Amino acid sequence: MQVKIATTEIRNMALFRFIFLLFLSSCIFAVLADVSVENCSDNSTIPTAQMSANIDSLVAELASSTSQNRFSIATYGKGTDKVYGLGQCRGDVNSTDCTNCIQDAAKNIRTNCQNQTDAWLWQNDNCILRFDDDQFFGKVDPSSFANLYNNDHPQHPSAFKKQLDALISKVSSEAVVPANEGLGRGKSFSVASNATIYALTQCTRDLSRRSCSDCLNIAIGNFSKFCNNEKTVGCRVLYGSCYVRYEIYPFYYPLDS
Ligand SMILES: *[C@@H]1O[C@H](CO)[C@@H](O)[C@H](O)[C@H]1NC(C)=O
Ligand SMILES: *[C@@H]1O[C@H](CO)[C@@H](O)[C@H](O)[C@H]1NC(C)=O
Ligand SMILES: *[C@@H]1O[C@H](CO)[C@@H](O)[C@H](O)[C@H]1NC(C)=O
Ligand SMILES: *[C@@H]1O[C@H](CO)[C@@H](O)[C@H](O)[C@H]1NC(C)=O
Ligand SMILES: *[C@@H]1O[C@H](CO)[C@@H](O)[C@H](O)[C@H]1NC(C)=O
Ligand SMILES: *[C@@H]1O[C@H](CO)[C@@H](O)[C@H](O)[C@H]1NC(C)=O
Repeated sequence: MQVKIATTEIRNMALFRFIFLLFLSSCIFAVLADVSVENCSDNSTIPTAQMSANIDSLVAELASSTSQNRFSIATYGKGTDKVYGLGQCRGDVNSTDCTNCIQDAAKNIRTNCQNQTDAWLWQNDNCILRFDDDQFFGKVDPSSFANLYNNDHPQHPSAFKKQLDALISKVSSEAVVPANEGLGRGKSFSVASNATIYALTQCTRDLSRRSCSDCLNIAIGNFSKFCNNEKTVGCRVLYGSCYVRYEIYPFYYPLDS
């Protein structure tokens, strides 16, 4: 499934997509799975055929090296036609799924963001592919994000919020530990909320510990804005440098960890 987003239309789009899925879903709660979100910068038309060729080469190189190493950064070309790129799989996704994901992303990003010099794509929640004609490694860009949320309310909102805040904080502090390569995940149950919450945070591996923390804090700090005032049992926020998601069902791998 594929959404094309413009930053200003994201929230409406998220709502639309949710409603759409609600009709299809026969579960107790609506499950919004396998979403691909991309950010093609509208004002960045590729100026030369050389740069376009460089982007093709860069994307091919990233698809190949990310399949092998789960994470890669690369540059391609010279002078004003030089381009920078990054590929990464979510840390809990196995290598078969990683390879499939990054190969799909490589196909889709060039089709969907044809004329753009900068773009990122989170493919099916499992991997990210990104390129830009500006050097972006290690930098957090909060201007470009997407958010998706579920319209179901928690049974006990204030207890749920308290539990969620504690879990997200724990999971984020795991993500910034260098050995964890940007990944944090975990679950918690609370009697007061009558809910089990599952949460996952992932930074791109070009970020320092500090920048990873900044990126996650920007996402989490805006939960009230991005996640229906936190009156929702599931939400995800995606940036070019980090990903934050929580649900009341297991969505990460392995499912029982
Ligand atoms: C992007 O393009 C729109 C119109 O296509 C224009 O109004 C806007 O100012 C441009 N933004 C930038 C940052 O260049
Ligand atoms: C990888 O994970 C998927 C679940 O997304 C699973 O179906 C598949 O069997 C796993 N492959 C391996 C080799 O573990
Ligand atoms: C990309 O640019 C080409 C020529 O510059 C144009 O014909 C084409 O319609 C553009 N595609 C998109 C998706 O904007
Ligand atoms: C995402 O979209 C916004 C708004 O169009 C733009 O300013 C930003 O540069 C884009 N980022 C990427 C990585 O394409
Ligand atoms: C907990 O939730 C379940 C279903 O989600 C419900 O059947 C049960 O009554 C709830 N228990 C309490 C104490 O709210
Ligand atoms: C919310 O996001 C904006 C950018 O979208 C960022 O500048 C701001 O710092 C964030 N707010 C918090 C409280 O993190």
